[in-house]
Amino acid sequence: MDISLDDFHNWWIYFLTRPNRSEMISMTESCREIPIKDIAPEGISPETVMSWSRDYYGPKELRERIIESQSYEDLTTDNVIVTTGTNEANMLAALAALDAGDEVILEMPQWMQGYAVCKHILRAQIKMLYLKEENLWKPNVEELKDLVTPKTKLIWLCHPNNPTGSVLDQNEMRAICEIAEDCGAWILQDEIYRNLEWNNVVSPSAVNYYDKSITAAGLSKTLGVEGMRIGWLACRDKAFVEKCNAFRIYSTLTTNLLGEKLATIALQPKKFKELVEAGKRIGRTNIKLVDQWIREHNGCISWIPPGGSYNTFPKYHYNMKSLEFCKRALDYKIIFTPGGAFPGGEGHIRLGVAIDTESLEQGLRRFDAFLTSLKQI
Ligand SMILES: Cc1ncc(COP(=O)(O)O)c(C=O)c1O
Repeated sequence: MDISLDDFHNWWIYFLTRPNRSEMISMTESCREIPIKDIAPEGISPETVMSWSRDYYGPKELRERIIESQSYEDLTTDNVIVTTGTNEANMLAALAALDAGDEVILEMPQWMQGYAVCKHILRAQIKMLYLKEENLWKPNVEELKDLVTPKTKLIWLCHPNNPTGSVLDQNEMRAICEIAEDCGAWILQDEIYRNLEWNNVVSPSAVNYYDKSITAAGLSKTLGVEGMRIGWLACRDKAFVEKCNAFRIYSTLTTNLLGEKLATIALQPKKFKELVEAGKRIGRTNIKLVDQWIREHNGCISWIPPGGSYNTFPKYHYNMKSLEFCKRALDYKIIFTPGGAFPGGEGHIRLGVAIDTESLEQGLRRFDAFLTSLKQI
């Protein structure tokens, strides 16, 4: 099977392998990094055995905490499986919902996994639903209506969105679900950034709106624990969940036991709230800082402030491809992701606000110097 990395991942490999990488400030981080002690100050018992818990779906207690903490309405533990991150949940859902060559609609720009899985693994017929800046990076429902056909099998969404930070409201989610229902398509909504909404209104979860919705989510971003590798998949259709689980048993078989234990602790209601709030405090401070900075540079750069997630997608006002822009920024020891790495994102950069405020301030000073250099061209 031919699988080549997309421009997004090629870019990450490019900057991660620069000889002076350690001197650079990453201004594109989509999640924080927290130590284990923030979740379990007492640690994990050294007596913990590393055998497989033999729960084919993920520990029941963990699935109960997922349902409760995410406010999934009227779901039982049979509707949820624990996965190795959101990536695995996305992959399982796509494998279970699609046959080779099926028609899929992908929101773009978004996390590039959907494109890779649909193109390289499922050889699906991909149609893009472009999110546009003038529509606050939200899907245009009329355009979606024009794109769907009776052959459409899946609509793949991501909100709060990576890379733009756009969030759907309940009416928008309902409208999309109605379109999917009319043509019988599944909705797969990657909700990895849910709970990180800057107006404090938790955004709608697809699984609460439509029987053929699949929610893929996890703790990587909300808590800043990418290495925990804990995510989940939720769907009202239990037969579909079983099918996803069958794919999981023949791929990763089980998630990691330490991750399951930490996730069960992290999802205790009070703990979860505290951990999410700690991240949001930093995010809010950083967004304010960047907003102020962008106002001061309004001829050079502009943005739609993010509704959720640590991702933002500013537009730069220079006649230059985003890859060129980001390569030149590396000379000033700051890292962005070129918007052109996402279909529909050229002319923008992904700026992440998940780093600590002091590093962000330092990064913005370097960004100042970089923009000054561009004015002199
Ligand atoms: C939208 C989106 N989905 C999934 C992932 C991967 O998540 P996980 O670490 O839970 O597998 C990422 C990582 O950046 C992401 O941005």
